[in-house]
Order: sequence, then C-alpha cells, then structure tokens
Amino acid sequence: MNPPQSLTPISGTILNVYASRKANGKSPLGDLSIYTTNDGSISLYNTNYCENFHSSTGALSEAKEKFLSPAEIERFTAERTINILDVCFGMGYNIAQLVEALNKNLIAFNWWGLEIDPRPLRISLENPKFNSIWSSEVQKMLFSIQKDGRYTNNKSQGVVLWGDARQTLAQIPIAVSFDLILHDAFSPSKCPMLWTEEFLSRLTRKLIPGGRLITYSSAAAVRSSLRRNGMKVGSIIPSERNAQKWSNGTIAISPLGTSKGIAQNKNWKDLSPMEEDHLLTRAAVPYRDPSGNSSNYDILKQREKEQRNSFLEKTINWGRRWERRGRT
Ligand SMILES: C[S@@+](CC[C@H](N)C(=O)[O-])C[C@H]1O[C@@H](n2cnc3c(N)ncnc32)[C@H](O)[C@@H]1O
Repeated sequence: MNPPQSLTPISGTILNVYASRKANGKSPLGDLSIYTTNDGSISLYNTNYCENFHSSTGALSEAKEKFLSPAEIERFTAERTINILDVCFGMGYNIAQLVEALNKNLIAFNWWGLEIDPRPLRISLENPKFNSIWSSEVQKMLFSIQKDGRYTNNKSQGVVLWGDARQTLAQIPIAVSFDLILHDAFSPSKCPMLWTEEFLSRLTRKLIPGGRLITYSSAAAVRSSLRRNGMKVGSIIPSERNAQKWSNGTIAISPLGTSKGIAQNKNWKDLSPMEEDHLLTRAAVPYRDPSGNSSNYDILKQREKEQRNSFLEKTINWGRRWERRGRT
C-alpha cells in the first residue's frame, strides 16, 4: 500500500492503464494501472491517490496475512451464519480469500461490501490470472456481485452498496451487527475520510461483542481512535518473511461485556512498548470529520493545525528513540 516513486509500481510490470474520463478529461476516481506483484497476483495503482492497492509483497499474500489470518474463521461453527462488512472491497481479494475458507468450513455468511469504484472488480474479473486463483463457487460469487451487485446461494448472500462508504454505511439496517469488519481503504494520509474518529466509531458500533475490525494500517491516529471508541487494540504479527516489519496492521476487538480478557494468539499480540509510545506522539492526533462529508483535503488541513498546536511529543523524537533501541 506504499505510494510508489512514480507511476511505475515498486515492482512488477504495468500491463494496462484503465481510464474513466469525464468530458472535461478528468476522472473523478483517477486512472488505474494494472501490474503484477511479487507473489504473481495482479494489483492496481490509482493516480488520484498516487497509491497502490496492495504492497509490493503481493496482493494475494496480503489478503491472507493481513485479513484472513487475523479473522481466524476456525472460531466459527457451521451452526451460525456470520455477518461480514467489507469496507473498500476493490478488486475483491479479501472477500474471495475469506469466502474460500468459509466455504471449506461450511460456514454460511451474509456479506455487505462498500465500494465507490466498480472498475477494480471488473478489471480483476477480466484477468485470467486472477480468476484462476479461485474456486468456481467464488468466481460465481464475484461475477454475480459485479453484474448484479448481489450474490446468493442456498445459504449465503452478499450485497454491494456502491458509493462513498460514509454514506452507504447508513443503508445497512440498524439491526445488522458484524462478526467481522475488513477495513482496506487507501492509507490514512491519502484517504483520511475513511479513517476519522467519527467513521471508525460508526463502524465499531456495528460490531457484535467480541467482533473484530481488521485493517492493514498500524497508524497511531487509527489505533488511538479505535481505543477511544472502546476497542481492545492489538497488533497483527508480521509473517516470517516480513519479520523485519514491526506490525502487519491492527485488530480491534469489541468488548465482550464480561470481565474476562481476550487472549492474544499466534496472529496478533498486545501493542509493544514501542507501539504504545507511538500513541503518545502527535502521530496519534486523530483525523476528524464531524459533518461526515468533509473532503480529504480539509480533514488533512484540520489535523495539521491540531498537530501544530498539540502538547504531544513530536513523532520524530519517537522515531529517533526507537531506532536507537532497535524496533522490537
Ligand atoms: C486499497 S484499495 C482496496 C483493495 C481491496 N480490498 C482489494 O482486495 O482489492 C482501496 C479501495 O477504496 C476505494 N475507495 C476510495 N474511496 C472510497 C470511499 N469514499 N468509499 C468507498 N470506497 C472508496 C477505492 O475505489 C479502492 O478500491
């Protein structure tokens, strides 16, 4: 998800450029370039955000390591249908991976997908390499979502709500709560509107007790907002091949309403002293959007102002401190 130096992705080959131009020659959603990541799976780069959809390591491996593993679907049984919210489902990797695992374990699901741009899924499904990853049932689901905006089989179903996730979230019935929320927006510094304290609050309020919000982001602002929203916040443990990284993202677990703690496990752990220290710096100043319709630009400007006036420590000092001690 790191921004590349130029239009050429960090690694891999640009295969094609997809543009969605308006009459004035500018696309409101940006142009998309398709390229191959290091694990052989395809991904996209968006020119509006100047950001890749996935890290150079691999789109498929990212979906597995940052979303599927911390979801721990082995917790669920076939007796209960689980509810999933997929914020920014884009090319469909996260939900496809998850549904492969759920189907294998005979777990039924209701899925809601929030996405503003229909092109990423269309581009995925036009690509034979992408299709060859998935079982015929998951391919059927993805094609149905793309064509009809919904999917149903004898026990599971899914629906897409196209548009700005801040607005479409409100279309989900109040009575629906989620076992899992996958949050995969562009990074907080590029798309802050989907990482504000207010939006994260609306998402976390839709979790069942013990439900999980999972994201690749380990930003201090996001973690602090999740904590202030009453979540137990953990750090997703990087896989062995990414062992040099200090985190693979964040898991936020809704309190169970009992005094019993929520045990950590092989996929995530409590924040390290370095990560806790990060939350005491200006990096932890939240993104704010009280009106629910501020632009990315306005949210960033407002936060910069708040950071300048903040009594919190400068984040650069935190970086120096932990670089010296080794990032453990
Ligand atoms: C990092 S990509 C998602 C990758 C995706 N999960 C996948 O596996 O391919 C971010 C996505 O956020 C979408 N997006 C950007 N702004 C949005 C908004 N305000 N509401 C909903 N989706 C948005 C983009 O169209 C893009 O598909």
